[in-house]
Amino acid sequence: MVLVLDRETLKSILTMKDTIDAVEEAFKYFGLGKVKMPMRPAIRIDEYNGLILYMPAYIGGMDALAVKVVSVYPDNPTKYNKPTVLGTVLLNDSKTGDLLAIMEGGFITAMRTGAVSGVATKYLARKDSKVVGVFGAGVQARTQLMAVCEVRPIEEARVYDIYKHAAERYAEEMSKELGINIKVVDEALDAVKGCDIIITATTSKVPVFKGEWLEAGTHINGIGSHTPDARELDSITIKKSKVVVDSYEACLKEAGDIIIPINEGVITKDHIYAELGEIVTGKKPGRVNDNEITLFKSVGLAIQDASTALKAYQLALRKKVGRTISL
Ligand SMILES: NC(=O)c1ccc[n+]([C@@H]2O[C@H](COP(=O)([O-])OP(=O)(O)OC[C@H]3O[C@@H](n4cnc5c(N)ncnc54)[C@H](O)[C@@H]3O)[C@@H](O)[C@H]2O)c1
Repeated sequence: MVLVLDRETLKSILTMKDTIDAVEEAFKYFGLGKVKMPMRPAIRIDEYNGLILYMPAYIGGMDALAVKVVSVYPDNPTKYNKPTVLGTVLLNDSKTGDLLAIMEGGFITAMRTGAVSGVATKYLARKDSKVVGVFGAGVQARTQLMAVCEVRPIEEARVYDIYKHAAERYAEEMSKELGINIKVVDEALDAVKGCDIIITATTSKVPVFKGEWLEAGTHINGIGSHTPDARELDSITIKKSKVVVDSYEACLKEAGDIIIPINEGVITKDHIYAELGEIVTGKKPGRVNDNEITLFKSVGLAIQDASTALKAYQLALRKKVGRTISL
């Protein structure tokens, strides 16, 4: 029998804390070399400004085996009233290969993308971080802020979006959900100056703020861009920062934020300080003083989905929720 977990069921069982723990464990095994994760094939559907990714992973230490099919259609919200990111996850039994569960993948994606920033923030942001600047007021920006609030004593967030009404809705919903003060700002500068942590979670293909504005001690989580020709962060930001990536291989293939400054000759590959797995396993230290500007760049890895899907499946069995079907 196959367990079907829809979005509402997943929302009722999966917390950000559990997701951060699962994703941190996945990065530990990634850092220990216990993961099998081929690079994800991507198909661009140029006619409709779309992209679809096929993301398989096996995490040896956790016995997590899954594949996610995820699409990114940035015109969906305005044209079709659908989310930019849509997905489905299949979770398999590592012992037999049998299908265990089918899950709605949009919620899993948002939670695991927030969670990996939560893990990075735990190791890289100043412990006394209180103010967060948020670029983008969409789906990912919500779970990004949830995750940062889970690991640091955040009191205030400042949100900037090119659509002010989106930022206003975000501020209203997220201040209720997280119990913190959220201000809408009209200028990108105001989501950088005086912020301890900056989140970029936009669909922009060009930098959303200027690296000159960054202050000592800031931590940045850059999660929005994931193609070689697009970037949310400019070359000055990358140059000024101690850069940690989710995966060297994936970021050097997919992250315009890193690839463009390399092609410009502003940095070399050696400028990347570490993979998150190296920090989680203690092979390299995270933040070492209060003045460093730290940056976590994630393009998103299949191990995040596999670990989160396994956690959701275990919770669903324990709480006896979801529907079963036979195929
Ligand atoms: N790294 C990862 O693992 C990962 C995972 C999921 C999604 N993503 C990417 O994150 C991005 C955001 O996804 P989403 O689901 O939140 O999309 P979304 O459409 O829900 O939200 C994106 C928001 O960004 C805003 N925006 C665009 N340009 C901006 C700019 N210059 N300044 C400020 N705001 C701007 C849009 O108005 C919109 O509100 C997408 O590019 C998506 O592919 C990355």
